[in-house]
Amino acid sequence: MSDRPDSGTTSWRTRLQESAVYRSVVRTPPFDSPRGRAQRAFGNVFLHVYPVRVPRALLRFRSTWRLGFISSVLFAILLITGVYLMFFYTPAVSMAYGDMQLLRSQVGFGQLIRNVHRWGAHLMVLAVVFHLVRVFVDGAYKAPRQFNWVIGVGLLVITLAYSFTGYLLPWDQLAYWAVTVGSDLVQYAPGVGGWLRNFLLGGSTIGQSALLRFYVIHVAVLTAAFFALMAVHLWRLRKDGLAVGDPDVAHDVTTRATEAVRTPVAADAHWLADGRRVLGVVETEDGPGHAREPEHEVFAWPHLLIRHQVVALAVIALVLALGIAFEAPLRELANPNVTPEPSKAPWYFVGLQELLAHFDPLVAGVLAPAVLVGALLLLPYVDRNPSRRPEDRRVALVLFWTIFLALVVLTVIGALFRGPGWGFVLPWEHLYFEP
Ligand code: HEM
Repeated sequence: MSDRPDSGTTSWRTRLQESAVYRSVVRTPPFDSPRGRAQRAFGNVFLHVYPVRVPRALLRFRSTWRLGFISSVLFAILLITGVYLMFFYTPAVSMAYGDMQLLRSQVGFGQLIRNVHRWGAHLMVLAVVFHLVRVFVDGAYKAPRQFNWVIGVGLLVITLAYSFTGYLLPWDQLAYWAVTVGSDLVQYAPGVGGWLRNFLLGGSTIGQSALLRFYVIHVAVLTAAFFALMAVHLWRLRKDGLAVGDPDVAHDVTTRATEAVRTPVAADAHWLADGRRVLGVVETEDGPGHAREPEHEVFAWPHLLIRHQVVALAVIALVLALGIAFEAPLRELANPNVTPEPSKAPWYFVGLQELLAHFDPLVAGVLAPAVLVGALLLLPYVDRNPSRRPEDRRVALVLFWTIFLALVVLTVIGALFRGPGWGFVLPWEHLYFEP
């Protein structure tokens, strides 16, 4: 086969890449050398999020289960599908439900996009919670990452708030009553409960003001807050480095970083013998051994990036498959005069609703969630045990799993085993659950 067409393509591409306009936008040093790769990473806004090199252990899926990354991919999907939905949605009591119906029949891919948005949101709650569990189990909240854990708790609260505020927007019976049950919990807060509920709903009942407030919080307030916290989360990741799954490597990184905080200098700095530091090391291109990567490190590009791309594609495929297979629910138009039996909060709050059946509302509706969030925020400062090895952290792990399993059991009972009058039902006899 002649190599003419090939060389034609190459010269066309080369000419483009060498043009002044192209080079003003994209800086592309050759990346067949360590220096070129490093410069590419520094000079690209997306690659710049990654360190040039990452621990080799991070390439193993099990090191992080990619759960933080999966949460980011889901967020990106929700942002794109959410903007599409915004073109066709009006946050007005008289319009919202009709817009949902129009999405189904009149808007190109409207129903599919709505389905993907809904299932993506549920998956994101799961992914963020599992990410928290992974970080806890790996002890990755310990010094120097305490503050990043706190930022993470903020991201968890934002994720739940996103789901909760989005729940009301279809303005059907499911939305109306789930949000009624959810926002009723707020009013049990001593002193400020009534005021807080009024502030959230813009009145004493769920109506036009509540719909508008939930919409603005959903599309604007939480998005701004999410980007702000996410920027800090990723920045701290770069500064602290990742505590990768393998306790030996992780211990090493943590210890080095902790010392760095005491010194104090950046955690990912390299130290020279005379006590000075360099923030990054690029191998020289000449001289012996120039192309060798240190045993325990690899270039993020392409090793980690290719893995992230595969995970991103798998996540997109999953939400698309769910969106094609299952339709997002839309019940009858919201009706404040007809209370469905049972009225359940969204599934991630149904554990609290189940708790309400057993305890005083002040305990179940206010104290329990407040103590839970407070404990999560304080955890890295209260748990001063420096070891990340499971055998040294038995008490913390047992406590954590006990609370986590209790929450799972409460959620499963509330979601699947409760029927009219909050009575006990077997889900295989009658399932009162709609996601
Ligand atoms: C929207 C929510 C969140 C996103 C998008 C996110 C994103 C990420 C990403 C991409 C990483 C890198 C490691 C990985 O891929 O797993 C990471 C690490 C980390 N995240 Fe999150 N995160 C979120 C929520 C949380 C939560 C809820 C917590 C804990 C309360 C948390 C605490 C941490 C910590 C401490 C690390 C460093 C872990 C390590 O060094 O091994 N994050 N996060």
